[in-house]
Amino acid sequence: MSTNFDEIIDRTGTASEKWDRYAGRDVLPLWVADMDFRAPPAVIEALNARVAHGVFGYTHPAEELCDVIREVLNGDYSWRIEREWIVWLPGLVTGLNVACRAVGDEGDEVLTAIPVYPPFLSAPRHARRTAVTVPLGEEDGRWSLDFQALEKAVTPRSRLFLLCNPHNPVGRAFGREELARLAEWCARNNLVICSDEIHAGLVLDADKNHIPIATLSPETASRTITLLAPSKTFNIPGLGCAFAVIPDPGLRQRFTAAMAGIVPPVNALGFTAALAAYQEGSGWQRELLAYLRGNRDLVEQEVARMPGLAVNHVEATYLAWIDTRKTGLTDPAGFFEEAGIGLSDGARFGGPGFVRLNFGCPQSMLLQALDRMKTALP
Ligand SMILES: Cc1ncc(COP(=O)(O)O)c(C=O)c1O
Repeated sequence: MSTNFDEIIDRTGTASEKWDRYAGRDVLPLWVADMDFRAPPAVIEALNARVAHGVFGYTHPAEELCDVIREVLNGDYSWRIEREWIVWLPGLVTGLNVACRAVGDEGDEVLTAIPVYPPFLSAPRHARRTAVTVPLGEEDGRWSLDFQALEKAVTPRSRLFLLCNPHNPVGRAFGREELARLAEWCARNNLVICSDEIHAGLVLDADKNHIPIATLSPETASRTITLLAPSKTFNIPGLGCAFAVIPDPGLRQRFTAAMAGIVPPVNALGFTAALAAYQEGSGWQRELLAYLRGNRDLVEQEVARMPGLAVNHVEATYLAWIDTRKTGLTDPAGFFEEAGIGLSDGARFGGPGFVRLNFGCPQSMLLQALDRMKTALP
């Protein structure tokens, strides 16, 4: 492995959201979803060269960026997209919010399965839509879409389904059958699908692949807004470069109309980093996945031994969703924070009694955090 993911990089003094939350306290921050690793060398070199040029005027996406995205989507997922299907965005959360404004009318319903990344719950409200949440099913520590519950929740006012695949926080990389069933159900209920696939490049299980729901059939593609970015895979979320893929011209027109005059373009450095990441980052990505697999295995093994805690298998992402309900803790995130581990509170994801642990960090830090958790539990 040519990248040293074990290196501890001091992020203090960089206005890091993750680290500043516990500034001056001995709390290991394993919460917000960025990793404590440097971006791929090719990305850093490209940014250095762009910065050295010194002129930072208004910038449009380079033709070669669109070309490499088309190549990557075709190579990784056999997904052939047209250049004009791409709509650039400064972030995926923007995309979720724009999708809620673009589909249906005020008072309409947006469905999503919980627990889920919190902006899925707030985006409908921001658009004056009603968020209808349907719990994911859980059986023997495996989470899945609950089609009976979805059937009960859908109404004539339902317009949009917000899908998170791979899923944050439960770490599922949904399989073809499950996605096909969802696509068929959305078609039957005439729902547009907005599929957040920001974690697509982070499938950890060797026997699984990411499947963009839009690749299932032309009919599914025509009702789908897919949100993608290099930000999670290559650890560049602070550079604000993302995009939507919207094959249907009418849906794309509604989406861009909802953005008009409000959503700023991607910045020059975001484009530069994205181009280098997609063109030259795949070797680094393979090494990252191997390292994350090791961290994931450690989390699963150690958490399973902790009294009252349980964690499901993480198929994708660098996030572990830990069930603390058997401990009887009323505020598990607060409890672990007191013990020196900063985790995300599951309640914000619609999953009270759970905490989310980000294992995208050097293994020594992860081991220290797991040790603190073990020691803190009665
Ligand atoms: C599922 C999901 N969507 C979106 C985001 C954030 O995207 P952005 O920073 O591009 O707005 C995250 C970050 O954790 C995420 O996990």
